[in-house]
Amino acid sequence: MNDKRIALVTGANQGVGLQVAKELVASGATVLVGSRNLARGETAARKIGPGAIAIQIDVTDRASIDTAAERIRAEFGRLDLLVNNAAISNTSKGDQSLAEYGRASQASNCSLDEVRAIWETNVFGVLAVYQAMLPLLRHSSDPRIVNVSSSVGSLTLNADPAFPYRSVFTPGYAASKTALNAVTLGMMIELESTGIKVNLVSPGFTSTSLNGFEGTESLEDGSREVVRVALLGPDGPSNTFTAWESQTIPW
Ligand SMILES: NC(=O)c1ccc[n+]([C@@H]2O[C@H](COP(=O)([O-])OP(=O)(O)OC[C@H]3O[C@@H](n4cnc5c(N)ncnc54)[C@H](OP(=O)(O)O)[C@@H]3O)[C@@H](O)[C@H]2O)c1
Repeated sequence: MNDKRIALVTGANQGVGLQVAKELVASGATVLVGSRNLARGETAARKIGPGAIAIQIDVTDRASIDTAAERIRAEFGRLDLLVNNAAISNTSKGDQSLAEYGRASQASNCSLDEVRAIWETNVFGVLAVYQAMLPLLRHSSDPRIVNVSSSVGSLTLNADPAFPYRSVFTPGYAASKTALNAVTLGMMIELESTGIKVNLVSPGFTSTSLNGFEGTESLEDGSREVVRVALLGPDGPSNTFTAWESQTIPW
């Protein structure tokens, strides 16, 4: 029996997921570096070093998710930590700035196909991975799920005209994070009477491909809250939605 913590981070071949995987390995965990493209996952795992193992998982592909779950069951028999990190912000931004893209993807003019594609990854993808991995988490003595959301999905914050990111609250990315929060609340309520803890977390505004590298925080700083929450021990809280450091985000 492997006594190291076994973690799966989806979308870990770059950005926040890669940083989280790196720090989890540094903490002593065995980390399955989830990547929809296996070669990119292998490159990332090699970069991290021993303790990182690439695994192919496309969160929009049921067969890929089931194959990943079966591999984890066969090799480890359980999962201790699931970080649902993979997400997309658009399918058509191209060279537009965030502001330009925001203006072109409002409720009146967004592409429904694009909104569906974003929600397929950011909402239904998380739910599908949850369903496939839950039986493995049930075999852990200290199981935790961390869903990577964003403060831009907070209905309470966006209802305040003074909230600075309000102009990017569009039906695609931002609303997908609101929906993810709602789906996560369902997981939290379902698992309340079990030992499986569920937390929602927002990275900082981090320079990654998700925002065309317009984010203002480094990968290390921007990913800190995700790492902190992913490393919470058995006495750590469940059902929280936080940003660095432990700052509660209103739903
Ligand atoms: N950056 C920020 O400022 C910020 C702020 C708040 C929240 N977040 C959240 O932080 C998380 C990580 O984002 P990031 O900024 O690190 O973005 P990123 O650098 O674009 O990384 C996103 C990751 O998700 C993967 N992915 C996309 N679709 C996938 C699919 N269908 N199946 C599996 N993997 C898929 C990507 O894989 P490929 O490399 O193959 O595309 C990539 O590895 C996301 O949940 C995002 O919403 C980010």
